[in-house]
Amino acid sequence: MTSSSATARMISLEGIDGAGKSSHLERLHAHLSALGAEVVRTREPGGSELAEILRELVLHRAMDALSETLLLFAARRDHLNTVIRPALARGALVLCDRFTDATYAYQGWGRGLDHGILLQLEQWVQEGLQPDLTLWFDVPPAVAAARLARARAPDRFEALDEAFFTRVRDGYAERMARDPARLVRIQGDAGLEQVWGSVVQALRERGWA
Ligand code: TYD
Repeated sequence: MTSSSATARMISLEGIDGAGKSSHLERLHAHLSALGAEVVRTREPGGSELAEILRELVLHRAMDALSETLLLFAARRDHLNTVIRPALARGALVLCDRFTDATYAYQGWGRGLDHGILLQLEQWVQEGLQPDLTLWFDVPPAVAAARLARARAPDRFEALDEAFFTRVRDGYAERMARDPARLVRIQGDAGLEQVWGSVVQALRERGWA
């Protein structure tokens, strides 16, 4: 990819709950918009009308790991069709709060869903589309848990224990090992300005800052 603002690209942000990606998403959105490109800020699960309805089910209704995964990929398909692909087609920059790495980390590593199922669904649903850059905000699960304890009422995932989030973190590490050119690890338990500095650095390395 080049640094031209006319070049469509997609950046996703990942991390365990409490990793602090939301604060940086806000700032990243402002930073990239100031560079002049159209920036479409979106999220998963959700991001389209149908996907937001599915999000409510996934976050608040009890179900097994496969049902959860099928709903997540159904939501993703609609989100891709109605929001992400049209945005990329008109040259916008898509900034997505979580994408498929979260499904590998949470449903695959966290819940233990078979990797082959995830791979198949990913191929069907995404037809080769992947983010160009994924910022993985990595914090130790104990630090994230302490942050979450101060936050609002937890959803189904946020209520899970530290052992679950340790597996999810291992999942992100494994995703990064598989695709080191796409995923960048941001040390999320440093000071706010230091974390932001790492984000800008990752963009600069790609000529996008
Ligand atoms: P999150 O970005 O944490 O939303 P909020 O900041 O509003 O709490 O995402 C919601 C939850 O969904 C989070 O706990 C991770 C989970 N999730 C999965 O389990 N699998 C997925 O594929 C995605 C996209 C999210």
